[in-house]
Amino acid sequence: MAHPRIGASILSDIKQMKQIVPGVLYHHEKIDGSGYPEGLKGDQIPLVGKIISLADAFDAMTSRRVYRDAMTIKKACSEIEKGLGTHFDAPIGRIFLESDIRKLWEIIQDGFIESWDYSNFSEYGAVAVGTLIQ
Ligand SMILES: [Fe+2]
Repeated sequence: MAHPRIGASILSDIKQMKQIVPGVLYHHEKIDGSGYPEGLKGDQIPLVGKIISLADAFDAMTSRRVYRDAMTIKKACSEIEKGLGTHFDAPIGRIFLESDIRKLWEIIQDGFIESWDYSNFSEYGAVAVGTLIQ
């Protein structure tokens, strides 16, 4: 439960990561206030935290673990839908669920992230968000 603070601390001195630090720190907060590390609620959670929370949950559910198989994209979306307004921010979750998730998935699988130019994080973010909301 300490990893959000540790991760944010590690990234806080890296200039290119400044915008993402609040997202790392608050990616386990939940809209209903039951998350951690601070139990923030609703719009107390920064936008980037809400987005990373959803992306992290989607990634976790669709990844294989030693104790379970990966969920299908359809099942993961169903789980996200169930958590709208409690775990996840409802407007952001709806944008995600209405986006072309399959296309986003293919981009990620193609190694888009591995070819990411780390010196230009803002541009990467714009492309990723643009892909998500198209
Ligand atoms: Fe985490």
